[in-house]
Amino acid sequence: MNEFSLKNKTAVVTGALGLLGRQHCRALSAAGASVVVADLELATCEEFAASLPAPALGLSLDVTRRESVVAARDTVLMTFDRIDILVNNAAINDMFENPQAAQEQSKFENYPLELWQKSVDVNLTGLFLCSQVFGFEMAKRQGGSIINIASTYGVVAPDQNLYRDRSGRQSFTKPPAYSATKGAVISFTRYLAAYWGHAGVRVNTLTPGGVENGQDAFFIEKYSKKTPLGRMARPDDYHGALVFLASDASSYMTGANLVVDGGWTIL
Ligand SMILES: NC(=O)c1ccc[n+]([C@@H]2O[C@H](COP(=O)([O-])OP(=O)(O)OC[C@H]3O[C@@H](n4cnc5c(N)ncnc54)[C@H](O)[C@@H]3O)[C@@H](O)[C@H]2O)c1
Repeated sequence: MNEFSLKNKTAVVTGALGLLGRQHCRALSAAGASVVVADLELATCEEFAASLPAPALGLSLDVTRRESVVAARDTVLMTFDRIDILVNNAAINDMFENPQAAQEQSKFENYPLELWQKSVDVNLTGLFLCSQVFGFEMAKRQGGSIINIASTYGVVAPDQNLYRDRSGRQSFTKPPAYSATKGAVISFTRYLAAYWGHAGVRVNTLTPGGVENGQDAFFIEKYSKKTPLGRMARPDDYHGALVFLASDASSYMTGANLVVDGGWTIL
């Protein structure tokens, strides 16, 4: 199965210190890629990069700032000489520390413009900038794979009943920016796949479902009941799909949306 190998390839992962970002780095590194661990905090990126099995580089990167993306590109090229894979993974998924704020601000009618703008900046503009700057390096070399991480909520609307507590109270409403930006990720993927097809740059979406990560038991129970495979995702459930999209194993695939969600979006 040599076509799954990522030996001699360089992969940049944005938002690499998050729950799934770390998993993406581990999967790409295990498949042989040199991984660039790119996130906001340099020291932690370097520390995590040192724990990976293949050569890796920790890099500070703010995806919303073009100068930061350009500086990151230059460092990657100086270190590894090439860029073959880009995983646009960094994203904001609104969380509210204060339960009162959670209940009120998350409602569509009250949702603050600043939060909307922040999600658009990171989830969409960041993905655009990274694709433009890192992707152009791939286009110049006539080859590469860009993987844009969306979400089931970019495919179907959130079921707001999931966010009711046992007493039926709507303790949180899934806000609009996440759905809007993740839906846009899927159509941006199609745009860029069509635009760069001739340059040998493949662009695909990976759509993960919800990962179990300390949510309350009632939420996990309801989510699992709504999922044909009967459970939330484990953090490592996306390893196979990611390596497939990054590697030559998917060489005739572009513009697609690979949905890995336990069946959530088929119902
Ligand atoms: N966790 C899930 O259940 C789930 C489900 C579906 C889709 N996703 C998607 O998977 C991806 C990763 O999710 P996660 O749960 O690991 O998120 P996370 O919140 O754990 O990690 C996000 C990372 O992005 C980084 N980040 C934020 N702003 C940034 C910026 N301006 N520049 C660079 N990095 C920045 C953060 O520092 C953080 O390390 C996201 O695109 C998310 O929408 C996650």
